[in-house]
Amino acid sequence: MNNVFLIGFMGAGKSSVSHRLHQLLHREVIEMDACIAQKEGMSIQEIFAQKGEPYFRACETALLESFTAGAPRIVSCGGGVPMREENVAAMRRCGTIVLLTARPEVILGRVEHDHSRPLLEGHKDVPYISALMEQRRPKYEAAADITVDTSDRTIEEVCREIIKLAAQTETTTK
Ligand code: S3P
Repeated sequence: MNNVFLIGFMGAGKSSVSHRLHQLLHREVIEMDACIAQKEGMSIQEIFAQKGEPYFRACETALLESFTAGAPRIVSCGGGVPMREENVAAMRRCGTIVLLTARPEVILGRVEHDHSRPLLEGHKDVPYISALMEQRRPKYEAAADITVDTSDRTIEEVCREIIKLAAQTETTTK
């Protein structure tokens, strides 16, 4: 299996799923937010507040472009990654793009008590989450090779589905 890029809205389950895929596939896992925070020496909230969102988006693109070499990895992307065409092109060149989705109510339940996402602070409600999700949906769907809804599935079920569908996708695109 190629690199696996997990994309999707905040709270769709990318981090939990990538952690379990790491155990199942024995692949290195890269959590993009954590990688950027470590490199910059500050949290994502601090990067947004002190350097601005465009700076953070440039960090994401630079990091993605570094994944073209090396052993296949599992990459848990920040929710905004597929908004840039160049990011989608970089992922396409070297991997399978897996879109995780979930209903807005489910997303809200997962992010409610977390304060690490600047875009959701002060907007923890279903109408806001639905609107941002709808705005992003065309780009998420256009980027995806595979889509798995995580709303009513366990992490284990989601991972098994991804492994099965990714193997089929790679066979048909070879
Ligand atoms: C963002 C998602 C976050 C993080 C940043 C911006 C977004 O990552 O990159 O807060 O624009 O959707 P997660 O999707 O891992 O929460």
